[in-house]
Amino acid sequence: MTTPSTVHIPVLPEEVIDSMQPAPGHIVVDGTLGGAGHTLRLLAKVGESGRVIAFDRDPGPVEEASEKIDDPRLTLIHANYADIPEHLHALGIDHVDSILLDLGLSSDQLEDRDRGFSYQSDGTLDLRFNPLAGEAAWKLVNRLSEKHLADLIYQFGEERLSRRIARKIVAARQDAPIRTSIELAQLVRRCVPRSKNHSIDPATRTFQALRIAVNEELKWLSVAMERLPKVLAVGGRISVISFHSLEDRIVKHSLAQPAMNAGFDLKVLTRKPIMASPEELDSNPRSRSAKMRVAERVA
Ligand SMILES: C[S@@+](CC[C@H](N)C(=O)[O-])C[C@H]1O[C@@H](n2cnc3c(N)ncnc32)[C@H](O)[C@@H]1O
Repeated sequence: MTTPSTVHIPVLPEEVIDSMQPAPGHIVVDGTLGGAGHTLRLLAKVGESGRVIAFDRDPGPVEEASEKIDDPRLTLIHANYADIPEHLHALGIDHVDSILLDLGLSSDQLEDRDRGFSYQSDGTLDLRFNPLAGEAAWKLVNRLSEKHLADLIYQFGEERLSRRIARKIVAARQDAPIRTSIELAQLVRRCVPRSKNHSIDPATRTFQALRIAVNEELKWLSVAMERLPKVLAVGGRISVISFHSLEDRIVKHSLAQPAMNAGFDLKVLTRKPIMASPEELDSNPRSRSAKMRVAERVA
C-alpha cells in the first residue's frame, strides 16, 4: 500500500482518536476523507475485523485514495456526508460505532490552482467541492444583484464591509466579468483594510462567504447534524471539527439540543471545544482555528 500524495496535515490527530475510541471490530465512518490522514489512523485501530467507510463530496480524494490504499476494510464513497444514512443502508449497515466530520477544505484543494480556493491563484474562481455539480463562484459573482451579494458576504462571511465590496464587484463586472480568484482578491483588498498584524488576508471573509454559498455548506451541515446521530449505535461517538464560528454554532447547538422528535439522545462530552496543543499550532498553522466537539449516543 502507498499513501495518498497529499499535502494535507490532519488536525487534532491524537484527539480525534481519543474522542472516537476506535477499537478492533468497530465500524467507523469518516464523512470527510480529504487526504485520508484521519481515515488511515482510524483503519490502524479497527483491527482485522473492523471497517472504515469514508466519504467525500469531491471525487478527487476518493479517486486518489482508491488508487493508493489497497485495503479490503476500507470502503470509499463519493457522496455528501448528509447522505451517509442512505449509503450505510445500501451496504446493509444499521449502526456504526463512531463518525468523524472534519469540515471545510483540505490543503490539497487549496493548492490546486484550477479550483480557485487560494486567493493568490490565477485559476478560475470555482470554489466548488464537487466540480461536477452546482454553480461555480465566478458565475454567482457575475450574476447576483448588488444587494444579494452584499447580504451573502455579510451573512456567510460576517464581513462588516460587505456593502462596499458588493458595490466594487458590480462596478468591476460592468467592464468585464470577474473570472479568477486573484482578480476578486485584489478587488476586495482595495475595499478592506489589512488587519493590524497582517495575519489575515482581507479577502478571507469574502472567499469564505462565496465558498459556503456555492457549496451550501451550512445547509448540509445542519442536515447532517440532524441525521447522522441516528445511525450511531448506543454508546457510539460523533466528533465534529469546525473552522469558523458559523459552523461551530450549528455543531454546538445540534449536539446540545437534538430535535424533540429526532429519536435519539446525545450526551455532549466536550463542555468546551477541544483545540490544538501549542506543539500542533507550531507544526500546523491550519490547526489554529480548529474546534472539535464530541457527543455520545445514549439509550
Ligand atoms: C478538511 S478536509 C478533510 C481532511 C481529512 N480529515 C484528512 O485527514 O486528510 C475536508 C474534506 O471534506 C470534504 N467535504 C466538504 N463538504 C462535504 C460534504 N458535505 N460531504 C462530504 N465531503 C465534504 C471536502 O471536499 C474535503 O475533502
